[in-house]
Amino acid sequence: MYQVIDGKKISQEIKDELREKAARMREQGIERTLAVVQVGADPASSVYVRNKKKACEYVGVRSLSYELPEETGEEKLLGIIRELNEREDVNGILVQLPLPSHINEERVLLAISPEKDVDGFHPVNVGNLSIGRPGYVSCTPAGVIQLLKRSGISIQGKECVVLGRSNIVGKPMAMLLLRENGTVTVCHSRTENLREITRRADILVAAVGKPRMVDETYVKDGAVVIDVGIHRNEDNKLCGDVDFESVAPKTSYITPVPGGVGPMTIAMLMANCVEGI
Ligand code: GUN
Repeated sequence: MYQVIDGKKISQEIKDELREKAARMREQGIERTLAVVQVGADPASSVYVRNKKKACEYVGVRSLSYELPEETGEEKLLGIIRELNEREDVNGILVQLPLPSHINEERVLLAISPEKDVDGFHPVNVGNLSIGRPGYVSCTPAGVIQLLKRSGISIQGKECVVLGRSNIVGKPMAMLLLRENGTVTVCHSRTENLREITRRADILVAAVGKPRMVDETYVKDGAVVIDVGIHRNEDNKLCGDVDFESVAPKTSYITPVPGGVGPMTIAMLMANCVEGI
């Protein structure tokens, strides 16, 4: 019998711990402030930004909101980031992605001071993670590690397979699993004999971005399956990269979509804001 990992419950536990920690910090006169910058009004981004601000309010992180019009120029945005970098009362800066196409995303992410990069996207933080130095870690993969640890699943010595190689999930996920002493393989859409590799996994993290691609033929009996994907299917219902119905009975633990990895991203953003580097 498999166990469904409850990401909603675990993320709530983390936010409650952080709320207590932030309250204790405030008693000592320390307040954390996150600046959230959104350019344009992409509906999905607006939902994410609203949820991030709500989480700040719950945990006790002050949030500053910059809602800029779609036509905002790159120089104007860079100017705001430089100003936020300088402000001593701002600890975290988050620029919601995607940005409008006339803005160079890489230039913007590079402009955020690595000390305030609570998304963990700056090359300095990515580099620090890869050589085991302290730094901000990308929230979604950090959330996957918390889901595993808080479900009592040990990573050390396990065959961990990451399906997907994006900069914000696949690559940092591999680094984090390695840091936990997992034996890590990264595979992707161009990998030959993909199933042979994914079927070796004790822990399989699916972050490939293809709706329900991972069916039972990709999974070893008793594996732990973590689904990072989020898509809408034909009926406008949410689904992941994993075909839950066929895969779940083969697993020991599996995350659902929604209610698995999703809620962990914001919880880990709050951890980055409260705990710093
Ligand atoms: N857009 C989608 N996910 C994210 C995220 O984790 N951080 C930011 N800044 N933008 C996003």
